[in-house]
Amino acid sequence: MTAYQALQARLESNRHTWLVTGVAGFIGSNLLEALLKLNQRVVGLDNFATGHQYNIDQALADAGCGGGSENFHFIEGDICDTDVCYRACEGVDFVLHQAALGSVPRSIEDPARTNRANIDGFLNMLVASKDRGVRRFVYAASSSTYGDHPDLPKVEERIGNPLSPYAVTKLVNELYARVFASTYGMECIGLRYFNIFGKRQDPAGAYAAVIPKWVSSLLAGSDVFINGDGETSRDFCYIDNTVQVNLLAAMTDKPEAVNQVYNVALNDRTSLNQLFRMIQERLLARRPGLQPVQPIHRDFRAGDVRHSQADIGKAERLLGYQPTHRIREGLDEAMDWYVEALG
Ligand SMILES: NC(=O)c1ccc[n+]([C@@H]2O[C@H](COP(=O)([O-])OP(=O)(O)OC[C@H]3O[C@@H](n4cnc5c(N)ncnc54)[C@H](O)[C@@H]3O)[C@@H](O)[C@H]2O)c1
Repeated sequence: MTAYQALQARLESNRHTWLVTGVAGFIGSNLLEALLKLNQRVVGLDNFATGHQYNIDQALADAGCGGGSENFHFIEGDICDTDVCYRACEGVDFVLHQAALGSVPRSIEDPARTNRANIDGFLNMLVASKDRGVRRFVYAASSSTYGDHPDLPKVEERIGNPLSPYAVTKLVNELYARVFASTYGMECIGLRYFNIFGKRQDPAGAYAAVIPKWVSSLLAGSDVFINGDGETSRDFCYIDNTVQVNLLAAMTDKPEAVNQVYNVALNDRTSLNQLFRMIQERLLARRPGLQPVQPIHRDFRAGDVRHSQADIGKAERLLGYQPTHRIREGLDEAMDWYVEALG
């Protein structure tokens, strides 16, 4: 039995109250679904800045609670509003803090807005969690914190200088979490997500992530653009692995595992050119009527690092993380969902 299977069995017979911020977004709605399947009580908080009500509805439906659930309470509100944060933290055991404005380009265009949600909002959530006696605060950090550090694979202890306003905000989150642990004795764990993908990741908008953006373009017969020569690489990580690390981090009882940051990835490196081929191959298999296309290469994007790959030894060792999906298995499941959702 893996550490995660043991944890799931433990949770099924022990009900806790979880706050998932950003619950209407991609990762938050998947956390909601997983927690409800484990018979947990969930408070969800979101202001719909980038999230959608239909993500919550689908998470409830996929968890077998289609008409709503007495185990789920939703608060529509902004983490920049301290009263909202206090209300959301009332009676909560574990916080899984996902609410933030993602996207490097968005932060370059409007750094102040990103700062408000990602730093002011983050601090409000930390203070409210502390004052309401939350047992542990697990938060979405980011691989962007590695910035210009050249080493590969990325090891948690060695970071460089941030390359974008977004990366600054995620670094500041880690600094605040560390100080709240040392100053107030809070238990905080940061999860440096690499490129997470899977169902409910938004394909729309100027700041969409690469996988959903390409899938929706291919399904619509539109042009697909690759920024740069396509040899830029990333460590793409399927959502189920991400959910696993969140729950392991929240529930670990090893003292040495707490007040740490962890990479959440696979220790795989996939270039954008390889990724494009994998996606197109899967879509053509599911939609034989689609015509194969060649992607169009354009300029590199400001603020992007060239290569990214994580050492995941720390999460394996201290949390018992064992990824269940490599990139190909994750893409298989994600493509089934996208073809149905976007088709
Ligand atoms: N998806 C990735 O690959 C990835 C990588 C690194 C880090 N992250 C981080 O993971 C978290 C979740 O990302 P995601 O991909 O699910 O993004 P998402 O945009 O789908 O979800 C973020 C959610 O937060 C909500 N939100 C934003 N600002 C808010 C505010 N002020 N008050 C309340 N709610 C607010 C949005 O409405 C949205 O529902 C974010 O913190 C993001 O920075 C994601």
